[in-house]
Amino acid sequence: MDRIAVLTSGGDAPGMNACIRAVVRTALNNKMDIYGVERGYAGLVNGEITRLGTRSVSDMIHKGGTFLKTARCPEFKDIEVQRKAVESLSAYGIEGLVVIGGDGTFRGAKDLVDNFGIKVVGIPGTIDNDLSYTDYTVGFDTAVNTVLWAINNLRDTMHSHDRVCLLEVMGRHCGDIALYAGVAGGAEYVLVPEIPYDLDEISSKIKKSYLRGKTSNMIILAEGAGNRDEIASYIHQKSGMGVKVTNFGYIQRGGSPNMQDRILAAKFGYKAVELLRDDAESCAIGIIDNKIKTVPFSDVSKRKREFDKDLYEIAHVLSL
Ligand code: ADP
Ligand code: F6P
Repeated sequence: MDRIAVLTSGGDAPGMNACIRAVVRTALNNKMDIYGVERGYAGLVNGEITRLGTRSVSDMIHKGGTFLKTARCPEFKDIEVQRKAVESLSAYGIEGLVVIGGDGTFRGAKDLVDNFGIKVVGIPGTIDNDLSYTDYTVGFDTAVNTVLWAINNLRDTMHSHDRVCLLEVMGRHCGDIALYAGVAGGAEYVLVPEIPYDLDEISSKIKKSYLRGKTSNMIILAEGAGNRDEIASYIHQKSGMGVKVTNFGYIQRGGSPNMQDRILAAKFGYKAVELLRDDAESCAIGIIDNKIKTVPFSDVSKRKREFDKDLYEIAHVLSL
C-alpha cells in the first residue's frame, strides 16, 4: 500500500496531534504518500483532503486537540453518505485509512470496511476510556490528570469553608474518568453510571463525618450518573451541609498530552501504518497488559467495557 490518509473523529482528546504526527512520520519513513482529512467523516464526505509532509506535524507533539479538526457527523450512518466518502478516497487514490476516535468512529469505520471493502485501521482516541477491547484510550490519562488539578484546587476552598464539593466530570456513559480521578484525588464519594448509589446513605455519612470533625467532602460525579444540581440539593437538605457544584466540562478535553498519552500515540500511530503498509486485515489497535494488540472491528462494540469494581472498592475503603 503506497497511499494512505488519516482523520480524527468524535470528541477530541489530548494526544490526537501526537498520534497524527506518528502516523505521518511513519508513513513517510516507509516512502508512503500520506493525506490528512479535515473534520472527521464530514470532511471525508466533502473531500476536505490535503497532502501532508513531515513539516505538517512539526511543533505538534505537545499540543492538545487535533489540527485536522474533528466533527460529529450523524448522517454518516447512511450508506449513501458513506459512498460519497469512498468516492473521495478513490478520487485521491487513497488505498487505506487511519481513523482516530472512539466507539462511534469505529462503527463508521466498520461500515466502510463491511460495505465497501475499504482498508481501515482504528486508533482509540477519546478521553472517555469507554472501549471494552483496550485498557486505555489516547487522551484518558491526560484528562484524569487535568481533573486531578481541579480536585486539588477545589479541596483548598471547600476545606476553608467546611463545604461539600460536587464535581461533575465527562465520560459519556463510562465512569472511568470519575473513578480514576476519585481514587487519585482522594475523593470521599465516586458516583458512576455503572454502580447504584444511595443518596440517603451518603448524606448520613457526610453528616456523621462532620460531627467527627471531617468538615469537608469531595464527591466526583460522572456525567452519566445523575443530575448534579438535584444530587447537590438532596444532600444539602439531608445533611444540612453547604454543597457547591462544579461542572468541569470542556476543560478536561484540552491541554497538552502527558507522557503516557504521547507514548500511546506514538505506539498506536506507528503500528497503524505498519498494518496498512503490510496490507493486514482492517482492525482496531489497542493496548492490553501493556502489549499492543489488534482486534477486528466486529469485536469492538460487542462487549460493554468492564467496570473496575476492585478499584471502586479501593476508592470506597480509602475514603473512610
Ligand atoms: P466517538 O467516536 O468519540 O464515539 P461519536 O459517537 O460522535 O464520537 O462518533 C464519531 C462519528 O462516527 C460520528 O459523528 C459519525 O460520523 C460516526 N458514527 C457514529 N456512530 C456511527 C454508526 N453507528 N454508523 C456509522 N457511523 C457512525
Ligand atoms: O466522547 C468524549 C466526550 O467528551 C464525552 O465525555 C462527552 O459526553 C462528549 O464528548 C461531549 O460531546 P460534545 O463535545 O460533542 O459536546
